[in-house]
Amino acid sequence: MALKFPKQYILELIVGAAQRLLTQENQVFNFNPDAVHFVIESKDNPVFGDYSSNACFVLAKITGKSPLEIAEKIKVFIEAQTPEYIERIEIAGNGFLNFYLTNDFCNSWLGKIAKLSSKNFASSKKEKVIIEYSSPNVAKPMHVGHIRNTILGSSLANLYEFVGHKVTRWNHLGDWGTQFGKLITAYKKWGDKKAVDKNPIGELLELYIRFHKELDKYPELEKQAQEEFKKLEQGDKTNKSLLAWILKESLKDFNRLYSLFGAKFDKTIGESFYAPMTDKIIADLKNQKLLEPSEGAWIIKLDAFGLPPALIQKTDGATLYLTREIASLYYRLSKFNPDKILYIVGSEQSLHFQQLFAIAKLLNLSKTRLEHVKYELVLGPDGKKFSTREGNIIAAQAIVDTIIQTAQKVVDEKRSDVSEKEKNVIAKTVGINALIYSMLNESRMTDIVFNPEAMLSFKGNSATYLNYTYARLSNIVAKAGRIGKINTALLEKSDLDLVKKLLSFADRIDISITDSSPHHIAQYLLELANIANTYYEKTPIIKDEVKERKNARLTLIKDILHIMELGSKILGIKMIERI
Ligand code: ARG
Repeated sequence: MALKFPKQYILELIVGAAQRLLTQENQVFNFNPDAVHFVIESKDNPVFGDYSSNACFVLAKITGKSPLEIAEKIKVFIEAQTPEYIERIEIAGNGFLNFYLTNDFCNSWLGKIAKLSSKNFASSKKEKVIIEYSSPNVAKPMHVGHIRNTILGSSLANLYEFVGHKVTRWNHLGDWGTQFGKLITAYKKWGDKKAVDKNPIGELLELYIRFHKELDKYPELEKQAQEEFKKLEQGDKTNKSLLAWILKESLKDFNRLYSLFGAKFDKTIGESFYAPMTDKIIADLKNQKLLEPSEGAWIIKLDAFGLPPALIQKTDGATLYLTREIASLYYRLSKFNPDKILYIVGSEQSLHFQQLFAIAKLLNLSKTRLEHVKYELVLGPDGKKFSTREGNIIAAQAIVDTIIQTAQKVVDEKRSDVSEKEKNVIAKTVGINALIYSMLNESRMTDIVFNPEAMLSFKGNSATYLNYTYARLSNIVAKAGRIGKINTALLEKSDLDLVKKLLSFADRIDISITDSSPHHIAQYLLELANIANTYYEKTPIIKDEVKERKNARLTLIKDILHIMELGSKILGIKMIERI
């Protein structure tokens, strides 16, 4: 069952009071509680109460009164209801409302938090959501951008599932275009099935590079490649099965990375799948008078959206990335009828998605909400573009290897107590955790700098630090054994502050969904770890001589561990009990 957390309680109080006020003033304002963002957790600044609201500024605009005057009225309305969870309300600045929760309310959550499950965070609306992520190009190695993409998408999918949505995880592979004519030509000339089998992407890449080298000497290769692609377009059996095989082989490599990141897909469909559908789409677009001829090609004008025209078919009849994208959208809508589609794709493709969404509007496709979830770059340790000295893009695998090797050094140092084999397992988990966290602890619109040492730091903003905190707290619980009777009345401010922090986990879930950015959860876990560590250092827990308080504190530690588990699971991080 979905539970109410403090923010919702307070939001409801404000909405109720605001509606009363507006009725008094003969004004109407339809609140949509989902869209109301005017209650926020006051992070770690106690001056602003536990929660703070700017609602009075919004209401001041509607009524033409001053925010301060409104704040006084709202405060009186709410106080008249004497909600048992509100200790007091303060008016701050020129109209902010600050709310303080009662100790009793916080105490009542102690021990309950450890029993929370995803069901308790369920969203009121359950939706069908397609989340598309990763989507690499086959026969090419994944690069660091694909790591960010895959981790971001995977965690967004976890997040949507966590609050009860029905998620379809989608991988839109790039496996179409003239380069596949080249690859097929190269394979037919120089390819070795066994070699590809052994090292799929490495070998296919070699073939592709060789094609371009030989092209200098034998320009006729270009023509051959065009013909091979043409055959592919016309449905030639051999070429089609070659392409299908290339896709299958590439997936072997991709899957290795996916399994490290815990990324799964329900649908993996290459662009080639949509190629046969584009004729019908072009005919449809012509019927609807959306398509216009332009110097032998066909375009859709998008002036009304302030966008440049979209090229749909080239002069030679070939379709484009966008044409297949439209076909894919039709397919997704007709097969899945989703409420929402999230496209996790780098910012550099913004125009492509603006055009796609504009075309979807022109076609009046459906009520499905379409969102381009963009993200910025991952830069090298020097803060510059991530590439080798020769200018080649660094493959995702090399990055994964680097982080695991760096983690290995750390683990070798700290864990002399376990076997080599165990050390390797721990290093792998620690390394991947570090990589995942570093891809999620910044807003997706911020560049990330790849710095393996910092990503693995025990002190910094890292998964290692979170895990270190988790291990420290787990250790107390393990030592304590069974927890006896508790007395919450004995708890102090620092204990209750932690309970409040735990309760605000729900807010971060909400905001992560609103912003399609799990970094709110990553940052939350860091804040929680910081508070928990200070608490650990300053508060006697196991050594507390007041037995019932000690038990209450141990219960609190279990609550913290549980929220850390829920949060890290959404991110895709595996907490281990000893690090
Ligand atoms: N394969 C493309 C690339 O690597 C990304 C595809 C993104 N998804 C989409 N629906 N267009 O650049």
